[in-house]
Amino acid sequence: MKRLEGKTALITGAARGIGLEIAAAFAAEGAAVAVADLSAQESAAAAAGIADRTGARAIGLGLDVTKEADCEKAVAETEKAFGKVDILVNNAGITKDGLVLRMKEADFDAVISVNLKGAFLMSKAASRLMLKARAGRIINISSVVGQSGQAGQANYSASKAGLIGLTKSLAREFAPRQVLVNAVAPGFIRTRMTEGLKEEARAAISGLIPLGRMGEPGEVAKAALFLAGDDSAYITGQVLAVNGGLYM
Ligand SMILES: NC(=O)c1ccc[n+]([C@@H]2O[C@H](COP(=O)([O-])OP(=O)(O)OC[C@H]3O[C@@H](n4cnc5c(N)ncnc54)[C@H](O)[C@@H]3O)[C@@H](O)[C@H]2O)c1
Repeated sequence: MKRLEGKTALITGAARGIGLEIAAAFAAEGAAVAVADLSAQESAAAAAGIADRTGARAIGLGLDVTKEADCEKAVAETEKAFGKVDILVNNAGITKDGLVLRMKEADFDAVISVNLKGAFLMSKAASRLMLKARAGRIINISSVVGQSGQAGQANYSASKAGLIGLTKSLAREFAPRQVLVNAVAPGFIRTRMTEGLKEEARAAISGLIPLGRMGEPGEVAKAALFLAGDDSAYITGQVLAVNGGLYM
């Protein structure tokens, strides 16, 4: 029996990178998946690819997680297509790095808005269905720098630390209805987000990681899969680090 047979999942920022790997991993385990990202076209293409590879049902949705109406529409469209929303993964995220003295207010606001407010809006929209169903999973993709801090990423690390607070508060609020809320905190993972790093920076980072290498998106997807399935039925309000030992 596949681990997510009969389940439905909505994953934000899933047209590429870690989100795409999570959607594909869930589909491979039998879930029907809604791939939601800024471009409806790219989401549809990603969903078609997943359906082809796994045989699972997959739809693509265009949404901007900073807009409440978009979040509500994405949840409504997923419910219309699949009848329910069992699992929400808040994965959409951006960076706008810079040292604080040079960081523009707009760059601080934009990162908080996508990474933190977006997760709040999506959780609010999806939890209506989950609380009624007395079941559900919300998985927030935080980051190692939300735990450790990072020079040049005050906005990003604040947003990711905020996500951990959001995770714990939602976990407490929703526990009476059996809606479980956890976070995954990836370390340095090979995606477009880290592609811009120079070779020396990459080597320096790998030198700091006890396991000696950057992680792969599929390794983050496996942690999300664990938190989405029955094997984690007694786990809520936790942060699962997938970072090669970078932060303990
Ligand atoms: N790559 C890493 O090393 C790493 C480490 C820790 C955490 N993360 C987190 O993992 C998540 C995925 O990162 P990734 O590396 O796959 O990055 P990525 O840039 O490849 O993917 C992010 C996706 O989010 C989408 N997105 C951006 N703004 C959006 C919005 N307003 N509404 C909807 N979608 C939006 C983008 O279009 C993109 O498809 C992010 O939250 C990121 O912060 C990544």
